[in-house]
Amino acid sequence: MRTAATSAHSKILILDFGSQYTQVIARRIRELQVYSEIVRFDTPATEIAKLKPKGLILSGGPASVYDKGAPHLDPEIFSLGIPVLGICYGLMLMAHHLGGQVVFSGRREYGAGTLHIANGSQLLDGLGPQIDVWNSHGDEVTALPKGFRAAGRTESYGLQFHPEVAHTPRGKEILQNFVYHICHCTMDWTMGSFIEEACARIREQVGDQKVVLGLSGGVDSSVTAALLHRAIGDQLTCIFVNNGLLRSREEEIVQRVFGENFHVRLKYVDASERFLALLKGVTDPETKRKIIGNEFIKVFQHATEELLEEDRKNDARKHGGYKFLAQGTLYPDVIESVSIEGNPAQVIKSHHNVGGLPEKMHFELVEPVRQLFKDEVRQAGLQLGLPKEIVYRQPFPGPGLAVRMLGEVTPERLSILREADTIVVSEMESSDWYYRVWQSFAVLLPVRSVGVMGDQRTYENTIVLRIVDSQDGMTADWVRLPYELLARISARISNEVKGVNRVCYDISSKPPSTIEWE
Ligand code: XMP
Repeated sequence: MRTAATSAHSKILILDFGSQYTQVIARRIRELQVYSEIVRFDTPATEIAKLKPKGLILSGGPASVYDKGAPHLDPEIFSLGIPVLGICYGLMLMAHHLGGQVVFSGRREYGAGTLHIANGSQLLDGLGPQIDVWNSHGDEVTALPKGFRAAGRTESYGLQFHPEVAHTPRGKEILQNFVYHICHCTMDWTMGSFIEEACARIREQVGDQKVVLGLSGGVDSSVTAALLHRAIGDQLTCIFVNNGLLRSREEEIVQRVFGENFHVRLKYVDASERFLALLKGVTDPETKRKIIGNEFIKVFQHATEELLEEDRKNDARKHGGYKFLAQGTLYPDVIESVSIEGNPAQVIKSHHNVGGLPEKMHFELVEPVRQLFKDEVRQAGLQLGLPKEIVYRQPFPGPGLAVRMLGEVTPERLSILREADTIVVSEMESSDWYYRVWQSFAVLLPVRSVGVMGDQRTYENTIVLRIVDSQDGMTADWVRLPYELLARISARISNEVKGVNRVCYDISSKPPSTIEWE
């Protein structure tokens, strides 16, 4: 894994033993304004020392310390003189390596529990006599290693429960105690300082060369564009490809925000006809995705060549070709997932890469937000002056409306879906629900059914509403939207969208369904 350059920040390193909560720990620490990074469980102590962390956290994990193939750490890390906090499996490992005793307790403790605080320790300082905690373990420490006492005196601490999850309400205070009082970290991880440092790093990486960026209108590429623009001004050119599968007025919004407000050099390419011609007659979901992905690459490549040609003509830009490609890669995409048997995070990881520009394009990548979690990217976007409509917009798939339209993609069907989608978005916004859910959209089915309008019998299309809650798109649940709102959306769609006489609500969770229908 390429570790992010992080200058002189206070830093906590988290050794990942495959817990589904590892990323949650990292986010909790960053919420305390202390930079945190996830590294593999077997990172050698010498490498850890080079990263100069002020503290180490050993995550939980699905294994038991006595399992064959259980992940083990380099025990030298306990001699680095850096405070260590072991959580669950991390605690068991600590006890195991430092001469304590761990046994399989015979009963799995899972769920809510109470921690009675007796000894008074820096870690549990200020928490009173007992707190509610969240457990998930089968092993138990039966004998403490030498130099330890329950609730610790030395610089190594262990927690059998999970302080990072919301079910341990006062977990934040425990992490604060560790990070501020035991590791003496300063609160120097703020979006303001991130932006300044990121700009400096971008300038250092690209020098006076030109950078191209595929702007999709989504949060990640938009924030990346705004950041690069702040760093290198018009050395950056954004390419926005209209593939004909966008939501209504999407191209207007992007051109207004980036072209007019930010004065970013923006090349708008309307390739809708090419995409739609290629999609004619295609109904298979994967084939649709492939066609769209491949065509995007061609269009993008061609647009870059055109840019070069324009530059040559204008002669305004002295520097050579486009050496760099900027991408809005985020931290969760960068973290090397630890594959440990039984790790649920591993099973549900399915990742869609937007655009997917091939390596043969010979670009060097600029990925200024690869250190950030999604919520941090949003904060950075707001600080960079992006409007809320961009920063808090819901995810939209790269293949666009094509995968929200089962069956063939035709201009007529696109126009039906766009109109329905506009109604969903506007009703969700005006009722204040838009920003409270992960995604809310319409799907057009290849199903017609009988209806009645006035005295006329109709035989028209079906729209499905898909409105889901999710943390990261990996799992999701349908939103229990108020009936009145559902009624309003349904009535408006069947009244206002010509060609639709029936609206259904999708009440499936992911898994076993997916969020999109294709
Ligand atoms: P699914 O449908 O797999 O979607 O539950 C999970 C999340 O990913 C988005 N998604 C995509 N994003 N290209 C993208 O850029 C795609 O091909 C794609 N397919 C799904 C989806 O909107 C949801 O947020």
